[in-house]
Amino acid sequence: MDLLLFGGTGFLGRALARAALDRGIHVVCVCRGTSPLPAGVEHLAADRQDDRALAMLGERRVDAAIDLTSHPGQVRRALRDTAAAHWTYISSVNVYRDFDVPDQREDAPVREPLAGEDLTDMELYGDAKVACEDAVREHAEAWAVIRPGLIGGPGDRSGRSGYYPWRFAHPTGPDVLVPDAPGAGVHLIDVRDLAAWIVTCAQRRITGVFNASGASTTFEHLLAASRRAAGTPATVTTRPVDPALLAREHVVPWAGPRSLPLWIDAPGYEHFGSVDSGAARAAGLTRRPLEQTLADVLAWEEERGRHEGAGLTDEEERQLRTSL
Ligand SMILES: NC(=O)c1ccc[n+]([C@@H]2O[C@H](COP(=O)([O-])OP(=O)(O)OC[C@H]3O[C@@H](n4cnc5c(N)ncnc54)[C@H](OP(=O)(O)O)[C@@H]3O)[C@@H](O)[C@H]2O)c1
Repeated sequence: MDLLLFGGTGFLGRALARAALDRGIHVVCVCRGTSPLPAGVEHLAADRQDDRALAMLGERRVDAAIDLTSHPGQVRRALRDTAAAHWTYISSVNVYRDFDVPDQREDAPVREPLAGEDLTDMELYGDAKVACEDAVREHAEAWAVIRPGLIGGPGDRSGRSGYYPWRFAHPTGPDVLVPDAPGAGVHLIDVRDLAAWIVTCAQRRITGVFNASGASTTFEHLLAASRRAAGTPATVTTRPVDPALLAREHVVPWAGPRSLPLWIDAPGYEHFGSVDSGAARAAGLTRRPLEQTLADVLAWEEERGRHEGAGLTDEEERQLRTSL
């Protein structure tokens, strides 16, 4: 089987390439090559912002294509210039218009499609994904649209899935600072489980729209699983901090520097941490236990000797402990 993978050097892209290669699939990665390519793939160097970039594909016809971009213009050009019997587009749960209801299914209302070719403002990420999905629906012969929730596991350089396991493994004092949001919803899908299932979709030519998230759980459960994954002694406690105090100290939710990740404190996003992935599970998606993902991302960070990308630095956590 020939698989054309648009991308292949990012977090999910690498996992997809690995999962496909493990199954003996010939993987052709189409990307510029700004990061090292996974070993064993064929590389077709192309800058997809260039209208003629995919001309080198010529008459080549592949069994399947998987596209990871968020730029509608890149999706449209790929569909125009590529002959694939099955197309998988990697979208996001961010396409949904409302997050004030829990467990949304694939037929829930989505945002307005982005007008234009390029995603230039990340505030419009969900709109861009809707426009990309529309292009695939309109032009692909047979297609699957996958809407992942938050992706984590080994290789997660965003630092979101690794922060709490790392922090519980490397406490900076008698307690670990966490947001006081025990009931907040959260889901985290292991990149290896997601990649394995997406490759199955391509192999079996599965069609339709699928949410693909980790099991919906609570922030309290995520913290407990992180603590167990890190093997933290009971003498280290957890210190929940009022979100208003965190805001006063310029600690941001969800992601990035000086954050306490994986929790959202914004009106209208009350149920961002829960979507229904029943259809994907019925179509073969399997999910390992959350604690295993957290233990494996911690092992990966320990091997690299650092945590980065999201959370509080050691110094920030120590300083906040005294000022809160
Ligand atoms: N992370 C999450 O929690 C999450 C959740 C939901 C959905 N998603 C979706 O999952 C996907 C993540 O994939 P990923 O981790 O592999 O993505 P990524 O890190 O965004 O990788 C982007 C890929 O596209 C290639 N690329 C970028 N610009 C290009 C250009 N101008 N021409 C050709 N290739 C270009 C890059 O390679 P070169 O730089 O070498 O060109 C790279 O291989 C995205 O679709 C994202 O929206 C992510």
